[in-house]
Amino acid sequence: MSLFAPLANPWIASQRPYQPGRPIEEVARELGLGDVEGIVKLASNENALGPSPKAQEAMRRAIPKMHLYPDGGSFYLRQALAKRYRISDDMVMLGCGCNEHAVLLAHAFMDKGDNLVVSERSFVVYKLVAALYHCHSVEVPMRGMTHDLDAMLKAITPRTKVVVVGNPNNPTGTMVTQADVDRFVERVPANVVTVFDEAYMELLDPKDQVDTLKHMKAAKKPVVTLRTFSKAYGLAGLRVGYAMAQPDAIDLLNKVRQPFNVNAMAQAAAVAALEDEAHLEATRRMLREGRIHLMEGMRKLGLDPVESVTNFILFPFKKAAGLTAALTKRKVIVRPMAGFGLPEHVRVSVGTAKENAQFLRALSEALIELE
Ligand SMILES: Cc1ncc(COP(=O)(O)O)c(C=O)c1O
Repeated sequence: MSLFAPLANPWIASQRPYQPGRPIEEVARELGLGDVEGIVKLASNENALGPSPKAQEAMRRAIPKMHLYPDGGSFYLRQALAKRYRISDDMVMLGCGCNEHAVLLAHAFMDKGDNLVVSERSFVVYKLVAALYHCHSVEVPMRGMTHDLDAMLKAITPRTKVVVVGNPNNPTGTMVTQADVDRFVERVPANVVTVFDEAYMELLDPKDQVDTLKHMKAAKKPVVTLRTFSKAYGLAGLRVGYAMAQPDAIDLLNKVRQPFNVNAMAQAAAVAALEDEAHLEATRRMLREGRIHLMEGMRKLGLDPVESVTNFILFPFKKAAGLTAALTKRKVIVRPMAGFGLPEHVRVSVGTAKENAQFLRALSEALIELE
């Protein structure tokens, strides 16, 4: 008999926790392999090139100081980001991945009975977090696989506190344009916080990136932009992301965070990673080539993948769970999308050329097995 369940807040007890991509070690155990050698993980949109060598060196240098608490204000990292984006350092706030910002935003802005507007096929964490704060999510249908920003505007009610636009969007890999974003910000009511989740933005060539900082700098609407070191910078394991917003928003977020929410090794690595333009460029090159390789390969196998601008590709497949299992048996881990409300879709992250080839080989065998 559970001692705790009857004591829990009822809206918490009924929640289902986030289902993360499976760790490579767990799959190795399941397959009865001694180690992870030969297993390819393309399930969590990580950077297949790994962390930049400069970040790795910074982490090694940080080891002897790990008995000290980190800088609770992430001073040097905030300075580096402020310089990069030409904003003042009181407009930047670091977090334990930008996942933490999803929680902090709800904590700071949402109250029981409020709602959060988001696209139906988008990052599930926002919906989970809204529920934690006793709030509803309004899930807005998309136009095909892309956000319908007009429909999102129409879905806003007097109880809406936050609207989230993932751009590029996970798990569809699509994006909305600069003109779409500008029009959206112009029309969104001033009593709604607009969050642009740009976890994948730096993976795009600079000329293709959408600028939301201009809206933040203009300070006419409450706009927050989120970015992360987990994707383009290959530091997902360290958990470091950041919010950029007007100083009064940053003040509020600082009130609801833990005092030491970003560890010292993460801060050191992130500062160094920001300086490694060559690694970022190599990542973009790998993705450009990898997407072409994967799209062509999947189409040749009769699949219909969604055109992606980023480091993962979504494709429809009726027996998604069966396909995922058949690929796992062949040492390739991908992500079934049932947890994202897409039970007949699978998402594969773009890996190195070798990993992509291993995925396509395994996929062609798995498709025969499932025929
Ligand atoms: C759209 C989106 N936002 C935020 C995150 C969280 O990133 P972080 O690792 O910084 O917490 C992810 C991670 O997969 C994501 O896909």
